[in-house]
Amino acid sequence: RPLVLPAAAILAIALAGCRGPQSALDPAGADASSLASLFWVMLAGAVVLWLLMNGLIFYAWRAKPRPISSKAARILIFGGGVVFPTFVLFFLLAYGLSMMPDQRAPGEGLRVEVTGEQWWFRVAYWPEGASEPIHSANEIVLPVGVRSEITLKADQVIHSFWLPSIAGKTDMFPGRVTRMSLLPTEPGEFRGQCAEFCGESHAWMAFTARTMTPDDFAAWVEAEAAPAAVPETDLQARGLDVFLSEGCGGCHAIRGTPARGRVGPDLTHLASRGNLAAGALKVTVPDLIAWISHPEAIKPGAKMPAFDHLPREDIAAMAAYLESLE
Ligand code: CUA
Repeated sequence: RPLVLPAAAILAIALAGCRGPQSALDPAGADASSLASLFWVMLAGAVVLWLLMNGLIFYAWRAKPRPISSKAARILIFGGGVVFPTFVLFFLLAYGLSMMPDQRAPGEGLRVEVTGEQWWFRVAYWPEGASEPIHSANEIVLPVGVRSEITLKADQVIHSFWLPSIAGKTDMFPGRVTRMSLLPTEPGEFRGQCAEFCGESHAWMAFTARTMTPDDFAAWVEAEAAPAAVPETDLQARGLDVFLSEGCGGCHAIRGTPARGRVGPDLTHLASRGNLAAGALKVTVPDLIAWISHPEAIKPGAKMPAFDHLPREDIAAMAAYLESLE
């Protein structure tokens, strides 16, 4: 009796962890829902079996039943050890396989391509009929109620694209193309994460997923395809000058400016994204200053060089410019 209350409190705390923007048990997508159902069915089955086994052990221990005949023992062993597990496993296999056709269905509309890099996600959207993709990074935007298909690739090493709230997990391999088909059912903001150890900053390789109504999504595609905002203040204009004169455009592209690099993330609409440096930071002036000055201190092994040799005012101007790129 005295243990009931603490046990209930621990269970409540444990279950509270099941909610949130990165939980397979709080689904906002059709595929995540079926995976969550599979989990609950398996959990319920496991609990029933656990109770049954413990009940039998308890019965044998306390009731000390008389020995049964060898024929009854054979029936019990064959039935409980072969027929029953075969039936349960076959049911689980059939139930799991029945979900596959939906999860492998081709997408409609926009094509999305995501490439795992060390340690960030390169994203390209191919609107229907477009010859050129729209480049972005570390954020996946998808329409609600439409099945989208994401083509997954990797540049140097194996990564895994894990978006538990909406779909599931699919590995990304260098030299091989995998795909994920997903159907978001609720608008919202979610979190995804690389789920395959890929080097020293694997833990800092996350992304944001935003789902929105098809109308909002069409407006977003239009905004995303537009060139970058023109600097409005002297500080922002100086920031763009520093960005270009320091050669940042050799690695990063900002459409509408001479910066056309494709090595690092496209920064055209950086400030509209939910994160900086693949989820390690937010797009704020202090975080941008910290990142530009010492990327290595935030993400060990990051390929971006440190710019702490620049005057602080130049770094602050660059941060002000980048933060204005809505
Ligand atoms: Cu990419 Cu772990």
